[in-house]
Amino acid sequence: MRTQVVIVGGGPSGLLLGQLLHLKGIDAVVLERKTKDYVLARIRAGILETGLVELMREAGVSERMDKERFVHTGTCISYENEMFSINFEDLIGKSVIVYGQTEVTRDLYEAREASGAKTISEAEGVAIHDADTDAPYVTYIKDGSEHRIDCDFVAGCDGFHGVSRKTIPDTVRKDYEKIFPFGWLGILSETPPVHEELIYANSARGFALCSMRNENLSRYYVQCELSDKVEDWSDEAFWEELKRRLPEDIAEKLVAGPSIEKSIAPLRSFVSEPMRWGRLFLCGDAAHIVPPTGAKGLNTAASDVRYLYRALSAYYLDKDSTGIDTYSETALARVWKAERFSWATTNLLHRFPDQSEFDLKMQRAEIESLHYNPTAQKWFAENYVGLPY
Ligand code: FAD
Ligand code: DHB
Repeated sequence: MRTQVVIVGGGPSGLLLGQLLHLKGIDAVVLERKTKDYVLARIRAGILETGLVELMREAGVSERMDKERFVHTGTCISYENEMFSINFEDLIGKSVIVYGQTEVTRDLYEAREASGAKTISEAEGVAIHDADTDAPYVTYIKDGSEHRIDCDFVAGCDGFHGVSRKTIPDTVRKDYEKIFPFGWLGILSETPPVHEELIYANSARGFALCSMRNENLSRYYVQCELSDKVEDWSDEAFWEELKRRLPEDIAEKLVAGPSIEKSIAPLRSFVSEPMRWGRLFLCGDAAHIVPPTGAKGLNTAASDVRYLYRALSAYYLDKDSTGIDTYSETALARVWKAERFSWATTNLLHRFPDQSEFDLKMQRAEIESLHYNPTAQKWFAENYVGLPY
């Protein structure tokens, strides 16, 4: 088989890139290791920046999102019994939306199916060959036999554990990593959200986050030990712990209920440079991971998609390879800023095992500066809603 672009990974990055290329008449095949149902069952991001919203519109997949989304003009931060809101709308005239990653992925899968674009699910043993030549190709195993796709370019959209990044030789690639000494335990429950805005809570017992998907679907997280297992946490234990980390008046309003999903995610900052090797381009979590505190992972993946889609469109439609040649540099400049914000909000809001009393005073002073200093609030707002492309 031959195509113009092989996209490895059918998560949000791969599907969005595929849909945008399809609309420009550029042929792409998506190779996904798992089944569609498996991909759609993953509960992850909930907050979308305007840049991603606009890209969904450009990809022609925004109809349901535009109907069902909730616009959030600000977000709350709490510490002990204090709580304040950072109002993006007042500070910088911008907002974010609540629309789950699961819904984004579903909309993209449906559009792909409707347009007849090719997605190969349950593709095992994907391998990228000759990416540093003008004739790359990708092999995979499906139903017990090996297949080969020749192409012009490969887009590595296969997440942190994928093969694409590892295809770049160690002599070329440099990885930067920071692993945080805790995880997030998250639950989804069919209960009304405790507050109209999200609450990011710093407490003596550790971080907590109150988020949502709609009027009757809430998403909550608590900072937990890396050694904790989901089975260690009953629903009752989760709700009790969450309440202890919120201001009393908020905790009193919290409606608890059975969890319909419960999972633990480790927290890590990670960047791999460069994001291009020959005719292979890395996109999204394949190249970088942020701790989820700033809601930047999916949104940063989307900015890579935008740069790569523009670069490939210019290559095919205008015979201009400038975008391709500058892709890695351009994408990384934005990635590092998202890394910094995510790292800074993680440091601001969590309890660390080796924090001294001095460290705690510094954290408190920084939160108070966000509470009372409009310049600090503006910095937070600009980063949270998403830096310009
Ligand atoms: P993935 O979603 O990892 O998709 C990669 C795909 O490639 C997968 O479908 C995988 O099965 C497939 N694949 C892997 N290996 C292979 C292979 N060898 N061959 C073929 N296919 C392969 N981000 C935000 O912006 N806002 C948030 O509010 C937010 N909250 C989060 C909360 C949690 C708890 C977590 C864990 C993450 C959160 N994120 C958030 C991050 C966000 O979910 C990720 O950044 C996003 O999923 C990245 O998309 P991706 O397509 O690049 O990678
Ligand atoms: C959600 C996740 C995040 O990491 C975040 O910062 C905000 C919201 C969520 O799942 O709703």
